[in-house]
Amino acid sequence: MGTKTRAVCFYEFGAPEEVARLEERELTDPQAGEVLVEVKVAPLNPADINFLEGKYGIRPALPAIPGNESSGIVRGVGSGVKGLKPGDQVIAPSRIGSWCEHYVTAAASLRKVPSEIPAEQACFLSVNAPTAWALLHEFAQLNAGDWVLQNAANSTVGRFIIQIAKQKGLKTLNVVRRAELVPELKALGADEVVMDKPPVSKQAAALTKGEEIRLAVNAVGGESARELAKSLARHGTLVTIGAMGREPLQIPNSLLIFKDIRFRGLWINEWIQAASPQKLDAMYEELARWMQEKKLSALIDKTFSLDDHLEALRGSEQAPRHGKVIFRMQAR
Ligand SMILES: NC(=O)c1ccc[n+]([C@@H]2O[C@H](COP(=O)([O-])OP(=O)(O)OC[C@H]3O[C@@H](n4cnc5c(N)ncnc54)[C@H](OP(=O)(O)O)[C@@H]3O)[C@@H](O)[C@H]2O)c1
Repeated sequence: MGTKTRAVCFYEFGAPEEVARLEERELTDPQAGEVLVEVKVAPLNPADINFLEGKYGIRPALPAIPGNESSGIVRGVGSGVKGLKPGDQVIAPSRIGSWCEHYVTAAASLRKVPSEIPAEQACFLSVNAPTAWALLHEFAQLNAGDWVLQNAANSTVGRFIIQIAKQKGLKTLNVVRRAELVPELKALGADEVVMDKPPVSKQAAALTKGEEIRLAVNAVGGESARELAKSLARHGTLVTIGAMGREPLQIPNSLLIFKDIRFRGLWINEWIQAASPQKLDAMYEELARWMQEKKLSALIDKTFSLDDHLEALRGSEQAPRHGKVIFRMQAR
């Protein structure tokens, strides 16, 4: 019978607004082990922009559908599918190309999430919330009362880091590029917020009253990352997850020689692929519970339909934004 659907596609890499187009598609019915999902919400993330530009960690075969995060509802199941049924809310932790109204994929690649979580928040359980969780659990042995330092602290990941850190009793020192964000991030749970200009490392030492910072998260690069690295304690770790400033990381030799600072990176899709089922179960259970308890939420700036995908793309690339731009699919 099949399902008529629509998706944002691109046939060549380039400026997103120039290469993205909306297309009708016909999906085949789910086969054995597969499910048909109706997408409800899909965010437009910086990685999706890089994906369209051909500047992401993978260059897909073209044509391709962008979109790394989404929440949706199961509408059909193929034979042999266990654990998912029509009506379940699901997210896709692996890249499926989520800027579409429907997709068919292997049931095993999806995760059921509580239907009580609104679709606008559940979508972030695919990438952004796990990124924040992995950063706080995988790179340093942190105990309640320890400091975590991050730049781009007003990003969706940054806000999740602030909220998860609060739940775990960690303290956050947050670096932002706009002064008006200071009260807002403090209200969210940030312990300290400073502006992204040197000498952040001197301010960090004063604000933490000399307490050690053993983990810093870098999503900007350039001078901003260098200031984070300089703020770290001996043997501290700087984890890079993004390059919003589009400036390379340049680190003084002395930070390696005299402080043995460790430089790591995280690509959450790969981390999820490699993590044990037990670890992933524990992470998703915790994140979903916090979302249900409203202790974890993302800020939404604007909502668009797929029809307005060009406007959505322009909105997502615009600065400053007050939260994430998302697609909300219209029921047809
Ligand atoms: N490695 C991974 O697996 C992974 C996973 C998820 C996200 N990420 C990365 O994490 C970063 C944040 O992602 P997100 O989805 O949370 O972002 P987001 O919500 O879309 O927010 C973007 C953030 O980038 C900041 N920004 C934009 N241009 C900048 C510039 N030139 N210099 C400094 N800051 C700039 C913005 O600052 P304002 O708040 O001042 O506007 C904002 O805080 C991105 O680089 C993304 O690619 C990586």
